[in-house]
Amino acid sequence: MIITIDGPAAAGKGTLANNLSQKYNYAYFDTGMVYRAVGLEMHLLGKDLADENAALEIAQNLTFEHMHELAKNPDFRSALGGKNASIVSAYPKVRAALLKMQQDFALNPVFADGRPAQGVIYDGRDTGTVVCPHADVKFFITASPEVRAERRYKEFLQKGIAADYNEVLADVKARDERDANRATAPMKPAEDAIIFDTSTLNIQEVTIKACEVIDEKQKH
Ligand code: DC
Repeated sequence: MIITIDGPAAAGKGTLANNLSQKYNYAYFDTGMVYRAVGLEMHLLGKDLADENAALEIAQNLTFEHMHELAKNPDFRSALGGKNASIVSAYPKVRAALLKMQQDFALNPVFADGRPAQGVIYDGRDTGTVVCPHADVKFFITASPEVRAERRYKEFLQKGIAADYNEVLADVKARDERDANRATAPMKPAEDAIIFDTSTLNIQEVTIKACEVIDEKQKH
């Protein structure tokens, strides 16, 4: 079974994906990692983020092993890392170069320790529309920019990272704008996606509803 979860940053995709991965014992692919890896490698090599060809070359050579190596860098998950990922992800050639790697994961899904899995959960922006348009179940998780900025702001404080709420909010809005308005594979719900708004539902409620949908699908 293939499940996709798309939506903007800090909407709760990762938490829902983790909950579902544990409950159903499915592998999980956080597809934002491929763009974070390219953005971080550009930064580490001192490349100009506007250099699309440099980003393309990095994307063409990216492997799972190297992506997981880069993920150990603190900037992989930082606000800067998210911004850089969003910028390189807008380049159509970079997206095309990273597509097969994402799609192939569903052919042979494995857990982090290499064990094979019976199913896969993707999270990202275009996993239900472009990466796996034939997924069995598609979710789109959203929340207001203010609610998502509040979550990110608290996460930064919990991690001991100094943050300013208004800056986090401006960053969330700028990233939404870039992700939703780029020409290639913009962030949008697939036509057959089930939409949840986590401004009004908490993540436990969303998980319960998502499980109902998956259980129903598995019956058929
Ligand atoms: O989910 P995330 O914050 O790790 O994603 C980082 C950036 O990567 C996001 O701003 C847009 C891009 N992205 C994308 O374009 N398509 C995806 N499927 C996943 C992420």
